[in-house]
Amino acid sequence: MSEQDTPTYAGPQRVFSGIQPTGNLHLGNYLGALKKFTRLQDDGWDGIYCVVDLHAITMPYDTGAMVSQTRQIAAAMIACGLDPKRSIIFAQSSVRAHTELCWVFNCIARMGWLEKMTQFKDKAGKNSERMSVGLFDYPVLQAADILAYKATHVPVGEDQQQHLELSRDIAARFNEQYEADFFPLPEALIEGPGARIMSLKDGTKKMSKSDPAENSRINLIDDADTIAKKIKKSKTDMLGDMPSDTGGFEGRPEVKNLVGIYGALAGMSDDEVLAEYGGKGFGVFKPALAELAVEHLSPITARMRELMDNPDEIDAALRDGAERAKAIAEPIMEEVRQTVGFWRP
Ligand code: TYM
Repeated sequence: MSEQDTPTYAGPQRVFSGIQPTGNLHLGNYLGALKKFTRLQDDGWDGIYCVVDLHAITMPYDTGAMVSQTRQIAAAMIACGLDPKRSIIFAQSSVRAHTELCWVFNCIARMGWLEKMTQFKDKAGKNSERMSVGLFDYPVLQAADILAYKATHVPVGEDQQQHLELSRDIAARFNEQYEADFFPLPEALIEGPGARIMSLKDGTKKMSKSDPAENSRINLIDDADTIAKKIKKSKTDMLGDMPSDTGGFEGRPEVKNLVGIYGALAGMSDDEVLAEYGGKGFGVFKPALAELAVEHLSPITARMRELMDNPDEIDAALRDGAERAKAIAEPIMEEVRQTVGFWRP
């Protein structure tokens, strides 16, 4: 973080991120977010990782599936390497600070700022009048998630960039309005391979939980055969073999995506992947990619299944995480209440 970002904020450096319990987690969530969480933990960062169930109810959802989806995200976090004793893993709705701070921020954020949010526009389409107020307010709650812990760093995929900018605007406006250097301006950690994984069926569309085409994504709970089949069936083009350098990605978004996935899994740059596979056919590259993906994902899948079969372990982690999260957020909220001028008992 540059000094210019948060000139006088001198609090602890802390990581926060969240994942929605909606639909199956996929390779994009893994490479864009979960893998980064584990790396940050291993690098010694204090991390708070939240299953954002309050966000999940902004769109139509299955009430009966919420508990199991919440457990599935927590299981994925643990299976990917987050240690619930070191990192905090919890469900958003179990810590009241998120909704309370969201309300305060609702009175800081401006309608015009939210009207610019592309994710709302994408989700609402032509039906914005019929969308929930919660969906419109979604990014304000996201800012509250981060700032209830005065988190300084937020690992996310590229699609969250604009929401993170809004969080910074809200923090800055709060600091300005109350003449307090209260909140840090949180920095998005997006850089690196895997920040934007695209659909296996359309290289111009993001890999997404909500895509009706099952073959467009690799789910973290897919078995080895399914992963291999989906990669084999992934879209390529009729423009010949693998390009020999990244200049050859021009007009070939699907090929660029597959190379990017390979690189993100193997810890290689696109150039390094092409040095190995440039000029070879997809009949060679796709099986190699499938093997690599299976090698990476099958231990995670196995651990996730094990955890899902034993929800007590997940629930214990979520309960403990909620208590530790509250212990950080509550004193911050008390300071917020005082700063905004509320009567205190
Ligand atoms: P969600 O649940 O949609 O996605 C979880 C994380 O996965 C990343 N991601 C991707 N990365 C690369 N390629 C893709 N195709 C891809 N698809 C998803 C997302 O960028 C995200 O990091 N609004 C957030 C949840 C949230 C949050 C927060 C995040 C709520 N509060 C506070 C950070 C901090 C979301 O919808 O994530």
